Amino acid sequence: MTFSVEDFIARAQSQFAEAQDAASLENAKARFLGKQGEITALLKGLASLSPEEKKEEGARINQLKRQVEDLLNARRAEMAQAELTKKLTAEAIDVTLPGRGRAMGGIHPVIQTWQRVEQIFGSIGFGVANGPEIENDWTNFTALNSPENHPARSMHDTFYIDMNDDKGLPLLLRTHTSPMQVRYARMHKPPIKVIAPGRTYRVDSDATHSPMFHQVEGLWIAEDISFADLKGVYTDFLRTFFESDDLVVRFRPSFFPFTEPSAEIDMMFTSGPNQGKWLEISGCGQVHPNVVRNFGLDPEQYIGFAFGSGLERLTMLRYGVNDLRLFYEGDLRFLRQFA
Ligand code: DAH
Repeated sequence: MTFSVEDFIARAQSQFAEAQDAASLENAKARFLGKQGEITALLKGLASLSPEEKKEEGARINQLKRQVEDLLNARRAEMAQAELTKKLTAEAIDVTLPGRGRAMGGIHPVIQTWQRVEQIFGSIGFGVANGPEIENDWTNFTALNSPENHPARSMHDTFYIDMNDDKGLPLLLRTHTSPMQVRYARMHKPPIKVIAPGRTYRVDSDATHSPMFHQVEGLWIAEDISFADLKGVYTDFLRTFFESDDLVVRFRPSFFPFTEPSAEIDMMFTSGPNQGKWLEISGCGQVHPNVVRNFGLDPEQYIGFAFGSGLERLTMLRYGVNDLRLFYEGDLRFLRQFA
């Protein structure tokens, strides 16, 4: 049996070198070392030889086999190295590139209104209270004189939570900031003079309603607080908020269970682009005696007013935004205008 070791080595070397990926290298290997491979065939051929020839040829073939295996391993290592180099190059970080820069954040327009409202009412002696967004139905409805079967309690506009509080009262996402009147008044002695801004929730969604929105509640209770005080305080607030004395305010009779009498506050600019149109801005009223009683106070002694205004509404009027949804889309082109 004759074969040329040099020829084998040369062919293995060139075929291994030709292989550009692991799969073709395995194919090349199989042609030499596989079950049907050439070197395997040589080994099989030994069977027909005499013992001396077998010994000599066997040694040559085994040596050849080892050399081919070495070549194969060398090529494998080379390919792995090339792969690694490629990966490192692709993932290289150029530390000399300039940074991307950090954009300045801004305060959301509705939160700017929130802060502004706190600042304005703070300047005329109102404290600020924060309350839970998950409320029980007694504080959100019953304590505020909303009858058990009032439509505002229906599943339609209230997000109920499948859980009761530790007193067994059903829980819900507060539908307004008014429950804060009750919480605050039960914890403080009159005179009570507070605003409570915060998030509120209703099952409602269109250009002027969002399932989550913001309100600010106001409450002033003492022995002699009248509608005249409400009118003065709220008119002053609006003029400060809109930075204009050219606005007038009217109180339009309305209904809320927790106030009697109740009113809707409308305002009208008397100059500027929006002049001449009445705009609804807030609900308000004189706190109902039943509610004063639920504060833990005697309605014969204590009297006062409450109001609840939408922060989105105030923001929209201040900046001339006409679609509420813009506040919640997170579009930087919109938000940057307020930064
Ligand atoms: N809670 C009312 C609402 O969400 C707004 C409101 C009206 C609040 C009259 C008041 C009030 O405090 O006196 O529609």
